[in-house]
Amino acid sequence: MDDRILDESQKENEENEEMSLRPERLAQYIGQHSLKENLGIFIEAARMREEALDHVILHGPPGLGKTTLSSIIANELGVNIRTTSGPAVERAGDLAAILSSLDAGDVLFIDEIHRLPRAVEEVLYSAMEDFFLDVVIGKGEEARNIRIDLPPFTLVGATTRFGSLSAPLRDRFGVQLRLEYYDFRSLITIVNRTAEIFEVSIDPDSAEELARRSRGTPRIANRLLRRVRDFSIVKGEPSIKLETTNHALKVLEVDPLGLDPTDHRIMRTIIETYKGGPVGLETVAVSIGEEVITLLDVYEPYLIQQGFLERTPRGRRATGKSFDYFTESENGTIDIFRNEE
Ligand code: ADE
Repeated sequence: MDDRILDESQKENEENEEMSLRPERLAQYIGQHSLKENLGIFIEAARMREEALDHVILHGPPGLGKTTLSSIIANELGVNIRTTSGPAVERAGDLAAILSSLDAGDVLFIDEIHRLPRAVEEVLYSAMEDFFLDVVIGKGEEARNIRIDLPPFTLVGATTRFGSLSAPLRDRFGVQLRLEYYDFRSLITIVNRTAEIFEVSIDPDSAEELARRSRGTPRIANRLLRRVRDFSIVKGEPSIKLETTNHALKVLEVDPLGLDPTDHRIMRTIIETYKGGPVGLETVAVSIGEEVITLLDVYEPYLIQQGFLERTPRGRRATGKSFDYFTESENGTIDIFRNEE
């Protein structure tokens, strides 16, 4: 097997494993306390009324559990779920095929719903509001509209960019839930839960260190735990030790706050090349060779949440705190990447 195939099959294994880590019921879901509480009530009420749950939009940074929650919603409602994504639904006909295959009360999950083509989105409005589709068949003089009645269903949409949904689509979601970065305690619980599923034992200080360096994101916590586990197994440890965890995180280039080399490049570019900003995100993206979308969805939200970066009308600006952290200052540096170059 060449390296590429090996990479692919390892990736596939990890994706399958990731699925097996997902909690199936709301009671097993850790963190997001107020979201969980509210969602639980809406689900229970829908069940009591014997009606489809109102449409739900889940929004927030990647890796916080939007897909997991969509399956939990279907499980709690005791209905089937159909899963697709914005870019996969290319034409109105694709949507019609999916919607007309649903049973009453089913969940349709559309991931990355902000990427639905406009023409598809417009057909979705009547489906969401009144459970019918208006589709045009034929062309030119022959063209006519047909109406397809649909069973009542629940659309669960997920997006990393709530702001880029059109107002008509956004307003048709009766339940709007924002996922927040996980707190430290919840991440520790998630790391311990995952370790249990992996059947490895982990020292409490190691679990804490992983939680601290996971950017508030369970997907990252679980990925780091996998790698740390590798180092620990090779060392033959009975339980994952802090020393091994720290060593693995260093090799993986995860800094004490969980930031990676790309975070450091972003912040240094703003601080050093653009004197702290403000600078346009496109300019930063070109300077470091990353996609704007990746910066917007993956990197920026956490840097903002940590108080390193600010969005201003004239562009991005580094905060005073970020100057202290990312540059060699008098009170010492946490410049782990540059020091090792
Ligand atoms: N695994 C990943 N995310 C989780 C969560 N929120 N609760 C429980 N297990 C998880």
